[in-house]
Amino acid sequence: MAVERVLLVGATGNIGVSAAIACLRTKREVLAIVRNQDSADKFFKHVGTKEGITVVKADVTTEDGVQGVVDKVKAGALPSFQHVYACVGVWIGTPLHKLSTEDFRRLMRLGFDANYFAYRATVPYLLEQNHPNSTWTCCTGAADISGYAGLTGATQGALVAMLAAAVLENERTNIRVNEAYLMVRVEVDSDAEAHGVMTASEYAKVYAKILEKKDIDGCKVIVRGPEDLKELRFEKKLPQQAIKHHQN
Ligand SMILES: NC(=O)c1ccc[n+]([C@@H]2O[C@H](COP(=O)([O-])OP(=O)(O)OC[C@H]3O[C@@H](n4cnc5c(N)ncnc54)[C@H](OP(=O)(O)O)[C@@H]3O)[C@@H](O)[C@H]2O)c1
Repeated sequence: MAVERVLLVGATGNIGVSAAIACLRTKREVLAIVRNQDSADKFFKHVGTKEGITVVKADVTTEDGVQGVVDKVKAGALPSFQHVYACVGVWIGTPLHKLSTEDFRRLMRLGFDANYFAYRATVPYLLEQNHPNSTWTCCTGAADISGYAGLTGATQGALVAMLAAAVLENERTNIRVNEAYLMVRVEVDSDAEAHGVMTASEYAKVYAKILEKKDIDGCKVIVRGPEDLKELRFEKKLPQQAIKHHQN
């Protein structure tokens, strides 16, 4: 059977590295979007290998960044993919009233727009391919309800709403849309060990399960701490009522 591949948008960050580790562990390959060679080198170092990984340069914050990658895949210049993990965004604790307009726009572009543009560019491709086990996953967290992460929380809140629509819109398609809801800090292994937080390698168990378990479909996969890595905690993202209403 042909090997499956995951397109990683936000590949070179903590969550992207974790997702790449999950892909390789489950014998999948990776198509990673990077913004420059330094990021690519950092990515390979943290993942620990270059094997099974193709990198492509693009600016994911622009409306046609990920679209350009999809166009190259369609033209056969890059390998095909059946899964997408979008995890673009940065932690920003600056008090809201101290953000310049420029910073505000930059951070919204990173934390929300880039993930939306990734969705808009990749979903038509996944639908067209009609692979029976396609997935589309995005990482969110509790910053939108805790209030302690400034504008990062606002981008996460927007992603939560976007993913609700994405779950509903793909309820009957070949794509399993899921939200990876992360309530603890995850960092690439060397940083995590220094800071005493969850490692990307440990958190990779979650994405590996999302890829493998077909019943994780339209779900919010919740990690509150190490205990949720032993037995995966997931629940339907939408009330059944909303789905029924959509179907009628
Ligand atoms: N880590 C956690 O514990 C955690 C918890 C809950 C939710 N989340 C969410 O998960 C997402 C990713 O978090 P993370 O910890 O992986 O973040 P991160 O390590 O800071 O990485 C973010 C990604 O965004 C890219 N990026 C940053 N600035 C960019 C720019 N100007 N242009 C293009 N790309 C840029 C980075 O590329 P470079 O490598 O090139 O800089 C990297 O690929 C965020 O939305 C965050 O809110 C994370």
